[in-house]
Amino acid sequence: SRLFTVLAVESSADDTGAAVVTSSGNILSNIVVKQHQIHEDFGGIHPYKAVQAHQRNLPGAVRKALTDAGLTVTDVDGIAFTRGPGMPGCLGAGATAALTLAAALNKPVVGVHHMQAHALTALLTSAESPPEFPFLTLLVSGGHTLLLLASSLTQFRILATTPDESIGRVFDKVSRMLALPWSSLGPGAALEDFCRSSSEPSGDCDSSRHVVPVLPRTMPGAMAFSFSGLHSAVERFVTAHGGAQALDITTKRELAREFQRAAVGQLEEKVGLALHWCQMRGIDVRHIVVSGGVASNAYLRDRCALRLSAQEASPHIPISLVFPPPSLCTDNAVMIAWASMHRFLARDFDNYSTTILPKWSI
Ligand code: KG4
Ligand code: ZN
Repeated sequence: SRLFTVLAVESSADDTGAAVVTSSGNILSNIVVKQHQIHEDFGGIHPYKAVQAHQRNLPGAVRKALTDAGLTVTDVDGIAFTRGPGMPGCLGAGATAALTLAAALNKPVVGVHHMQAHALTALLTSAESPPEFPFLTLLVSGGHTLLLLASSLTQFRILATTPDESIGRVFDKVSRMLALPWSSLGPGAALEDFCRSSSEPSGDCDSSRHVVPVLPRTMPGAMAFSFSGLHSAVERFVTAHGGAQALDITTKRELAREFQRAAVGQLEEKVGLALHWCQMRGIDVRHIVVSGGVASNAYLRDRCALRLSAQEASPHIPISLVFPPPSLCTDNAVMIAWASMHRFLARDFDNYSTTILPKWSI
C-alpha cells in the first residue's frame, strides 16, 4: 500500500519546526528555526516575542519543509501539530496554521502531545532495533528535565520532573557565571569542554587557589529533580570570591567539575530510583532512552552506562542505553509527525475546531 505522508508543525516553546515524514519513518525534511537570540537578554522565553517569532517563521518553515521534501502541499496526506503542553500563545500559532491548512485542503488533522512525541522519538531513530515497551526516557534539555515511563504508543507516565529549573538552563547559567568562552559550542558544551581540558601546570597560581566545597546533590531518595539549590550554591561561591574574573583557573575548573558531577549525579540517582520503582512493580524495563541537548554530554553518557552496569549486576536482564541523535532530541516537528502516524493510520483524526491544551497531562 501507499505510504502515508505527514506534514507537521511544532511551536510549543521558542523553536519553530516544520517537517515531512512518511509512515515508513522516512524523514523527507526537518526545518527548525531557533529564536535563542531574541530571548537571551530576557533570561527566559519572552511569551509575546515568542508568539511573534512563530508568526513570522511558520509560513517560511512550512514552505521550506515542503520544498526540501520535493512535495507540494496536495501530496501531503495528513497534517499534525503540537496540541500541548506548552506556552499558550506559541501553541496557538502552530495549531491555527495546521488546522487552517488542513481545513482548506480537506485533509485529516491530528494534535499531538509534545512529551509523548519526545518519548517516541527513539522508535524512529533506532528503527533497526527499536526499544521495546515498556522503556524509560530521560529527557534532559533546556526546556525539560523529565523521567518518563512509556508503556505503549499511548500510555505514558511522568516519574520525575523538576519543580524549579531545567538542567540545561543551569548548565547555561553556570557556564556564563564562570565566564567560559562559548565559541560555537554553546554554553553547556563549553562547560563540558572546560571540565575535560587538562589542568594547568602547577605552581603558577597555587597561592590564589580556593577549596571548592562539595555541592548539593539534593533530596536523596526522592524521585523529583531539583537544580536551583545547586545553581545558587555555585553562585554563592563565585560571588564570595569576587566573581569569575577573580578566580584562578584551577579553582574555576574544579568548581566546573564539581558542578558537573553534582548535576549528572542527580540524573544517575533518579534513573537508578526509577529502575528500582519499575522493578518493585514488576515492570520489566530493558531500554533507557536518554535524549535532549544535555544528553550529548559525554560525562553523562559514561556515568549512565556505569550506573546501569552496577545496577544490572543484581538482577538478571541487561538494560541498554539508547541515545537518539541530538538533532531529533531537541524540539522538532519530525517527532510530532512521527507521533501522529499511528493515529492517522487508525483514522483517529481530530476536528478542525480542536483547541490547544497548554497544560495537557500525559
Ligand atoms: O534540547 P536542546 O538542544 O534545546 C532546548 O532545550 O530547547 O537543549 C539545549 C540545552 C542547553 O541548555 C545546552 O547548554 C545544553 O542543552 N547542552 C549541554 C551540552 N550540549 C548542550 N549541556 C551539557 N553538556 C553538553 N555537552
Ligand atoms: Zn521539548
